[in-house]
Amino acid sequence: MDCEGLARAWLGAAFEAVAPGCGGGKVVPSKDARFGDWQCNDAMGIAKRLGRNPRELAQAVVGALPLPEILEKAEVAGPGFINLTLSGKAVAAGVEALAGDAALGVPQVGAGERVVIDYSSPNVAKPMHIGHIRSTVIGNAIDRILRALGYAVVADNHVGDWGTQFGILLEGYRAFLTDAEREALTVDLLEKVYVKSYNRTKEDPAWLERCREALVRLQAGDEACLAVWRRFIEISMREFGRVYDRLGVRFDLCRGESYYQPMLGPTVELLKERGLATQSEGAWIVDMKDEGLEVAIVRKRDGGFNYTTTDIATVRSRVEEFDPARIIYVTDERQQLHFRQFFRICERLGLCGKARLQHVWFGLMRLPEGTFSTRQGNVIKLETLLDEAAARARKIVDESHPDWPEAERAALAEAIGIGAIKYADLSHDPTTMIVFTWDKALALEGNSGPYLQYANARLNSLLEKYRAAVGREPAEQPLALGTPAEKALALHLLQYPNAVARAGELCKPSVLADYLYQLSQLYSSFYQGSPVLKAEPAVRDARIRLCDATSKVLRGGLALLGIPTPERL
Ligand code: ARG
Repeated sequence: MDCEGLARAWLGAAFEAVAPGCGGGKVVPSKDARFGDWQCNDAMGIAKRLGRNPRELAQAVVGALPLPEILEKAEVAGPGFINLTLSGKAVAAGVEALAGDAALGVPQVGAGERVVIDYSSPNVAKPMHIGHIRSTVIGNAIDRILRALGYAVVADNHVGDWGTQFGILLEGYRAFLTDAEREALTVDLLEKVYVKSYNRTKEDPAWLERCREALVRLQAGDEACLAVWRRFIEISMREFGRVYDRLGVRFDLCRGESYYQPMLGPTVELLKERGLATQSEGAWIVDMKDEGLEVAIVRKRDGGFNYTTTDIATVRSRVEEFDPARIIYVTDERQQLHFRQFFRICERLGLCGKARLQHVWFGLMRLPEGTFSTRQGNVIKLETLLDEAAARARKIVDESHPDWPEAERAALAEAIGIGAIKYADLSHDPTTMIVFTWDKALALEGNSGPYLQYANARLNSLLEKYRAAVGREPAEQPLALGTPAEKALALHLLQYPNAVARAGELCKPSVLADYLYQLSQLYSSFYQGSPVLKAEPAVRDARIRLCDATSKVLRGGLALLGIPTPERL
């Protein structure tokens, strides 16, 4: 068992001896090293329930059983906090075990469970907006974190490839484009065609009618319409794919909304059968007023289905096919009502199986005016953003390493640029508002992607120097903790599995980002106060082992966030 498990077991047994059946024994890292390494706050709550004095109860717990070997002392403070000080030996052994484990101690809480994550999910024939970008970056980090926790993840890109917009697009494509333009079709061009055609539907009833007819032909399976529609998808996916490649994002499935088309009619029938759908002004709706939610339309007056119908059918299909423990959706905050509505409908229909439906929403990132915002303020071309990040990173690289080979500098700039953009997003709680600035994202000091990449590269080079000078493997040296800074760093390393587990449970990669930033700060306090290579051999070897463990955790954590870790920087 690891240190935390042992401490919990000891405390749990002590609580049991003093207050049988009341639980207690959870430990958390202490906020302040003066109060020990870990603390347990359970005595207060239990004493309150039992009508006992909390300090006395805590005192009794601490004295109930002999101190286990991993603890140096256990003391009561304030109203009944139990402060634990771990023995340096136990912490060192814990770090050795963690660093020697391929999973770095991350608990396999998801083993045997499946999770579907629906993320990115842009719309065909439209550039990704900032919401899709955040969904891609946050969703992918959750994806990686859950896989590390042992879940069998099905990452599904639920692209918007069906709906009334395709009538408007088909008609615009037919009328507005030259052959050459059709040949060299891009998402940008498709968007222009859409806007022009859409505007015309507003002023030209005959045009509107033609768009409707085109849609009807597409829905009826007209081969010519389908062929053009497929091309819209192909062009869009190719462009999205370029971005996914750069971001290191891969999906297991890319099932567009169109995949669920045949299931929409039966879904509405089911809603009717269960008495959930009622007719209102020619449309079919689910009245959710008694649950404090707005009416949800599931079949429009013209017979068409909509986003809600598709999402209900999608849950049904995913539950049948994958029997997941969770289905996670990552979108921007504007869709909260939609998710609440169809989650509730699925529950009422009993469609969820054992799945917990979870909407992970995030605020829209604010972009400084003029940087990469366009007309509507939130439509940006992601590729332009990535290019800009790489170009800015390239300047920094060229200044510091003009002598490095061109190919390495280019690759490095790309890695720094991507890392900066991703980290700027992931380091904030998704539900808070962020204002993105280049200076902060690309800063080499402070809480930024490049700062962590730099810390990682510096560790690599230190380990390399040790190998070259001493001729031994850092990972094989015995770990011993001398100074308080070493112990603080080691204690933080022991928290890595918890940080990953919590990030996965809450679907907040920011928990892991915070953890890694703190790790790099603790490392730098240690490193500034303790020479490694220049220390006398026994101390040097113990310290390099601590550096090796730090490097493994930092690299592993950044990989879970999808942040590239260049060897040197
Ligand atoms: N395509 C949608 C949009 O751009 C996002 C889809 C999210 N996933 C879902 N199952 N509704 O807003």
